Amino acid sequence: MTLCWRRTPAAVVLIFAAALVGCSHPEQPNMLAVKDVHSLSNTQEVRVTTLELDLRAHFDLKTLSGTAILGITPINPNAEVLVLDTRKLDIDKAEISETGKRFAETKFELGKQDPILGTPLTVHLEPATRFVKITYSTNKSASGLQWLDPEQTAGKKQPFVYSQSQAIHARSWIPIQDSPAVRISYTARIRTPNELVAVMSGTNNQGVRKTGSYSFELSNPVPAYLISLAVGDIGFTSLGRRTGIYGEPSILDKAANEFQGLDKMVDAAEDLFGPYRWKRYDLLMMPPSFPYGGMENPELTFATPTILAGDRSLVSLICHELAHSWSGNLVTNATWSDFWLNEGYTVYLERRILEQLYGKDRAEMEAALGRQELEREMAELPARDQVLHIDLAGRDPDDGTTLVPYEKGYLFLLSLERTFGRERFDQYLRAYFDKYSFQSITTDAAMAYLKETLFEQQPEKAKAFPLDEWLNHPGIPASAPRVRSKLFDTVDAAVKTWLGGSSDLQTGSWCTQQWLRFLHQMPGTIDSAGMKRIDDAFQLTKSGNDEILAEWLLMAERAHYEPAYPRTASFLETVGRNKYIKPIYEEMVKTPAGKARALKIYHTARPGYHPIAQTAIDKVLKLSL
Ligand code: BES
Ligand code: ZN
Repeated sequence: MTLCWRRTPAAVVLIFAAALVGCSHPEQPNMLAVKDVHSLSNTQEVRVTTLELDLRAHFDLKTLSGTAILGITPINPNAEVLVLDTRKLDIDKAEISETGKRFAETKFELGKQDPILGTPLTVHLEPATRFVKITYSTNKSASGLQWLDPEQTAGKKQPFVYSQSQAIHARSWIPIQDSPAVRISYTARIRTPNELVAVMSGTNNQGVRKTGSYSFELSNPVPAYLISLAVGDIGFTSLGRRTGIYGEPSILDKAANEFQGLDKMVDAAEDLFGPYRWKRYDLLMMPPSFPYGGMENPELTFATPTILAGDRSLVSLICHELAHSWSGNLVTNATWSDFWLNEGYTVYLERRILEQLYGKDRAEMEAALGRQELEREMAELPARDQVLHIDLAGRDPDDGTTLVPYEKGYLFLLSLERTFGRERFDQYLRAYFDKYSFQSITTDAAMAYLKETLFEQQPEKAKAFPLDEWLNHPGIPASAPRVRSKLFDTVDAAVKTWLGGSSDLQTGSWCTQQWLRFLHQMPGTIDSAGMKRIDDAFQLTKSGNDEILAEWLLMAERAHYEPAYPRTASFLETVGRNKYIKPIYEEMVKTPAGKARALKIYHTARPGYHPIAQTAIDKVLKLSL
């Protein structure tokens, strides 16, 4: 097996400098000059290129323990230490080796704990050291792991644990250089209780036979935030030649029905953006407490079960996570200030895949919903958080996960597409993915390449394009493209009829996105009687579609529509998806009675939430726990 088969580090800063002075790209770009303010590791001195994990999952203690062997490449030949990122890890031992075979114990120190960044682990090296082995265990409150008791799973019989490493949580379960600028290939062996199955990103070498010992290999180098693990009562259903679904057995049939044709989605993405440079594309259906909609772990997207609507109407989330196989996993943001390169490009790709598979109407509806939500969120955001190329120094990068990198990033790319023409824009995109494949890239470098490949070909158009405004100014540029949707025009007309007092609407053929539009277009002042009128007509409190339901329950809080309250309680007690639950809690705390309800619900719900959601909701409720 060859680890580190693709060693070329990307030299984002040098590339940018080179582009600025107009010379050609250096052969061996040196990415390490990029300073990542969210890592305490010494990437400028030594670089981790490979990882060999050997961990055991202890469900009684809620810890992982074992060893991580890091293959290192010195950048500064005189480097005397390797500094790694950790958070709340118990370090038992550090060892070093020249060959990776025989290890000798070495000195190590844990530094001062930073509340956001964690604790630097300094390991002393010899000049010829090429491997460092750390023996450690995770803390039971590791920010990147969620340990679920059997009752919190679908099957209720077995416990479950899973990781969520993005943005800077890998360090809470692996001692690593936890910067997206550092790419690592890995192998892993995970030992579990005999009746459980472990899955990780990368090729799993045993299928889902329950052996209690599972091995994995991901030879493409990836940043630490993409390293992922889940252990539980996990089965598998194949969907096609290179796709399938992992998950608790009871959910597999429903998920297989929802995501039939996943192979075709991968094919469509390849037609658009060039070869899929990974092996398989599988999904792991997560327990409902998963704090995100989806997470693009390579070859194994983690997905919330809230997208199992029964009618495939929420598959855009899978288009999104699949798209990250190009924008994000193949070409990666070098720092969290460049996060929009991951997400903005991905939303653009997502909608191109949607268009290809489901037609223009569908993609336009999603874009129009996105624009509306962006405008709403931006109205509440401070100016500094409205810029694409955001400054996150001193802040938790999770604070940067607003709709700005997603939807403003999307509009930026759509604007490029419309300015330079789809054909040329597509050529640029493919070239970008080829050129920077398996590299991490800064905004500056990405924009230098954009200028070189797209702008310089059509200088007249480029001159009028407000690039700096897009990247560095708050708000949405006036020149941003407008997206119109014919299917939403129908809804808007129906809204008028409804608000005029007539209930005679032709909603029989409406899809999920049209219902969302209908709710978005209701006046903010709608009261409880107005909500009751809608509910009587369309039964939204009983909706089985979580996207519609979450929007409806949020409106119910605003309007103090009490008949929805029991549904709100049961929703908040089962679903942990931050995007849904946070706005509802935020609305609840606006009145004393609402806050009292929120606290009561949260008391029951909190133990079932992921640490990320717990931290977010603690803040909303101003709890210090
Ligand atoms: N990579 C993100 C999730 C993420 C971002 C996790 C930042 C941690 C920090 C993922 O691709 C994503 O964007 N998920 C979205 C869904 C998407 C359809 C917009 C989500 O979870 O809501
Ligand atoms: Zn994403």
